[in-house]
Amino acid sequence: MDGSFSNAVELGENGLTTPLGNGASAYFNYYWLRDNCPTSFDPQTRERTYDIFSLSQRPVPERAHLVDGALEILWRGDGHVTRHALEWLASYAQGTPRSDPADLPRRLWYGGHYPDIARFSQPALMADKAQVARWLEAMLVEGVAILTDMPDSDEGLTQTARLIGHVRPTFFGEYFDVRTHIKPTNLAYTAKALELHTDTPAEDFAPGVQFLHCRANSVAGGSSLFLDGAAAAADLRREHPDDFALLSETSIPYYCEHDDYDMRSRQRVIELDDHGEVSGVTISQHMADVFDLPQTFLDRYYPAFCRFGRLLQADKYLMRFRLGAGECIVFDNHRIVHGREAYTAESGDRHLRGCYTDRGEMRSTYRALVTQGRFK
Ligand SMILES: [Fe+2]
Repeated sequence: MDGSFSNAVELGENGLTTPLGNGASAYFNYYWLRDNCPTSFDPQTRERTYDIFSLSQRPVPERAHLVDGALEILWRGDGHVTRHALEWLASYAQGTPRSDPADLPRRLWYGGHYPDIARFSQPALMADKAQVARWLEAMLVEGVAILTDMPDSDEGLTQTARLIGHVRPTFFGEYFDVRTHIKPTNLAYTAKALELHTDTPAEDFAPGVQFLHCRANSVAGGSSLFLDGAAAAADLRREHPDDFALLSETSIPYYCEHDDYDMRSRQRVIELDDHGEVSGVTISQHMADVFDLPQTFLDRYYPAFCRFGRLLQADKYLMRFRLGAGECIVFDNHRIVHGREAYTAESGDRHLRGCYTDRGEMRSTYRALVTQGRFK
C-alpha cells in the first residue's frame, strides 16, 4: 500500500478495527477486548477475576484511540478504561492458537538410535534446572532419554519423577516392580518375551511418561526393546495410506479385567496431534479386547492392524540394548513402544522399578522452565 495509512480506530457494530503499529490493522470483538482487559486478571493469583457474565448489556466503547503504543478504550456505561498494548493485540490478530513453547516438532528415530539417545546424569538434573529443560526437550522431541548415576533407592526414582511433576497412579498403583531373582542352583529358567506394547491402554488416559529405573540386571539376555511408534506410523502413512487411515480413524476396544475391576477404553492405534501429524501409538495385543466392530469392516481392518504390528517388529525401528543398574529410561508411553526379548538365565538378579507422570505436566514444567509466561 501507499503512505495513506490511517491512525484512526474504526468503531463497528460488534467490534473495532485498529492499526497495530506495524503497518497492518486488525479487527477485534468488543466482548473479547473487554473480557481480556489487563485489569481482568489478578496479579497475585494470575486468574481472571472479571465476570463477563455479569454484563447486562453487550460492551460498547464510548470512544477508542491509540496512545503510546496502546489501544485505549473508554467503555460506555461504567466508564471503565481498557489499555491493550498493540504488540499484544497483534499476537491475537490472526485468530490462530497462541504459540506454545512445548509444541516442538518431533524428531523421528530408528533402530540405530541407541548411541545417540539423550543421556543425563541424575545428580546433575537434581542440581541444575537448565539440564532439566534439556531433558524435557529431548522427551518432547524424541520421546525418550536415559538417566544415569541414579541413586540405588526407591526415593531416587520418586525425586526424579518429581522433576517433571506428580507420580501418576494407574489402577496397578503408584509404583511397580519387575523383579526376577534366579538362584544359581536352579535349573535353567526361561523368561518369556514381553511383546511390544504401550502401557495400560485400557485406561481412559493411559499414563503419559514412563520411568523404568534399573536397580539390578545381571541376568544373561533379556535385552530391552524400544522403538519410535511415530516413525513406524509415518512410514505406514507414506507406503499404505489406506491402512494408515483405518488405524488412525478407528477406535478399537482395550480391556483389563479381573474379579474386582473391569477397565475398558477405546483407543485409536495411531494417534494424530492438532497439526495432523502422528503423535504416537496405542498398541497392546494382550490388552486388545475382542474387536466389536462390523465383521465386514474387520475384513479391511485386520490386515491393516497386522501389517502395522509386523512393521513395529522390523529391525529398521527396533533399538535393542541392555539397561544397566543405575540407569533409568524415561519415555513417552503414547509414542514409544517397548518390550523385552526372551531370556534364559543361569544366574542373576533383574529388578526394574517403574512409575509414571503425565505428559500435560511435563509440558507445563517445560514451559515454566523456558518461557516467561503471560504474568512474569
Ligand atoms: Fe510395559
